[in-house]
Amino acid sequence: MAYQTLTVEIDDYVALIRLNRPEALNALNSQLLDELGDALAEADRNEKVRCIVLTGSEKAFAAGADIKEMASKSFVDVYTGDLFGAQVDRITATRKPIIAAVAGYALGGGCELAMACDFIICADNAKFGQPEINLGVIAGIGGTQRLTRFVGKSKAMEMHLTGRFMDAAEAERSGLVSRVVPAAKLIPEALTAAKKIAEKSQIAIMAAKEAVNRAYETTLREGILFERRCFLSLFATEDQKEGMAAFLEKREPQFRDK
Ligand code: HXC
Repeated sequence: MAYQTLTVEIDDYVALIRLNRPEALNALNSQLLDELGDALAEADRNEKVRCIVLTGSEKAFAAGADIKEMASKSFVDVYTGDLFGAQVDRITATRKPIIAAVAGYALGGGCELAMACDFIICADNAKFGQPEINLGVIAGIGGTQRLTRFVGKSKAMEMHLTGRFMDAAEAERSGLVSRVVPAAKLIPEALTAAKKIAEKSQIAIMAAKEAVNRAYETTLREGILFERRCFLSLFATEDQKEGMAAFLEKREPQFRDK
């Protein structure tokens, strides 16, 4: 499918999706979020895709929701139109893993989009922030909840109340990103991680993603029970037999997603 606000390249079972509105630092507008939802749904359906990398440009992952598109809307417009709500739900419904590869600004909705992915690898020039407070609003697609779970209340509250940005080193220190890499290595490193994921049993990958995400949705006891059910059920797969046999026979496993 041809998109106007993003590009998709598929290679070696990894889909690389690049947000592409350079004139607005990849600000998220309705068209971009619709297209991103379509591209992710297509990647979920495509047997040639086993992992997704979502990125922006060297200057900006995304500088937030599109302020030009939002500025003149009324409460009735955004409430009845559910501004960006259903579109973001489509993104988080993606079943295959999504790695956010963040360089430059990830602000407002851009930071929220990165946090809605499964994990974040960032470049050393990345800047994260929730500056909506400067516009007379607050985060609206998960930022108050997700940032707080990533970095804890004190740091999240400071960022939401003051609008200050966090650099890459602080983002790594505080658990917002899994790691920081030199800007020139961001895409190669994210693709290497994605290819590693693509080599595993996709049944186990899907179960791992579901189980980790359950940690955000439920109590510890229920989450551990969910994990246990997933773990036990993987013994019904051929990939479990293959993975364990390969270890014992000192060879690489050949997973077949069965
Ligand atoms: C629309 C944006 C934009 C945005 C940048 N641009 N961010 N357009 N929406 N969020 C546009 C600018 O208007 C400008 O267009 C061009 O991109 C380049 O931006 P500059 O400001 O000239 O670049 P620079 O001086 O380098 O500053 C970069 C920046 C700044 C620090 C990232 O652009 C900035 O503060 N942007 C807004 C960040 C923000 O407040 N994000 C939160 C949005 S609210 P022109 O045409 O002038 O050249 C949000 C709510 C989410 O995200 C919840 C929704 C439900």
